[in-house]
Amino acid sequence: MIIARTAVELRAALDSKTGSIGFVPTMGALHIGHRTLIEKARVENDVVVVSIFVNPTQFLAGEDLSKYPRREEADFKICQLSGVDILFYPEVDAMYGNDEVSIKAPDIRGYILEGAVRPGHFDGVLSVVIKLLNITRATRAYFGKKDAQQLALITQMVENFFMCVEIIAVDTVRESDGLALSSRNVYLSASERIEALKLSASLKRATHLVMQGVRASNEIQRVMFEILQPLDVEYVAIVNRRFESISEVVIGDTIVLVAARVGTTRLIDNVWM
Ligand code: PAJ
Repeated sequence: MIIARTAVELRAALDSKTGSIGFVPTMGALHIGHRTLIEKARVENDVVVVSIFVNPTQFLAGEDLSKYPRREEADFKICQLSGVDILFYPEVDAMYGNDEVSIKAPDIRGYILEGAVRPGHFDGVLSVVIKLLNITRATRAYFGKKDAQQLALITQMVENFFMCVEIIAVDTVRESDGLALSSRNVYLSASERIEALKLSASLKRATHLVMQGVRASNEIQRVMFEILQPLDVEYVAIVNRRFESISEVVIGDTIVLVAARVGTTRLIDNVWM
């Protein structure tokens, strides 16, 4: 596995390879969710590139940038064992200069839900993702449905800027008890870990209600709020694939999302129906 720390090093590494390039961007602290993306990229492409970069521009002042989990050695090993060809591992100054051209998330879809709780977060995500897609010359790039709004906005950016990359959506990987894997789960104490199951439990209940024929969004949201008590719920939302709020579930075009704080840890989860 080649480790590249700058765009120039990455280009040199890519020049020694041929064929399609599958790219998996991450912020490290790799878990089985990330590994599933990497495995899919491995199966579908000739060359696999993974980036590990804790992107400062997507963290708001007061968020967990400085304490975001960093596990360089373990991450390198996981990449190596997963058959990654090139690991891109840049420092901040290899990615950003002064007074740059900036990318702004769309005014509505970029500033509702996650974008309302974390205004500007998606500007930072899109800015780094466009850089990474350009540096890696990715044929296909892999993103988790776990971050559904991020996935929708990246897909929209690729469309709006006529980029050539194909965006591949990958199902959320969960623990056997339902908890969606997240790098932030390491912050949870044993009792918080149990409380955190309320997120996936509320989504499971939403799925059951829809299977029983319930379609009204407000009814599903009400039941979910009950299950989520006494967590500090930031939002329970029901949207279509374009992230427009909908009053009735439409099978095949609905995402039910939840965001809540468990202790001081922010968790998000969703289900696609
Ligand atoms: P990070 O949180 O490290 O996630 C990297 C990728 O892994 C994202 O596409 C995310 O949706 C996916 N992922 C995380 N948990 C998952 C799970 N349980 N199942 C399936 N996929 C999962 O998302 C980011 O980093 C950053 O915003 C990034 C896109 C790298 C830009 O900085």
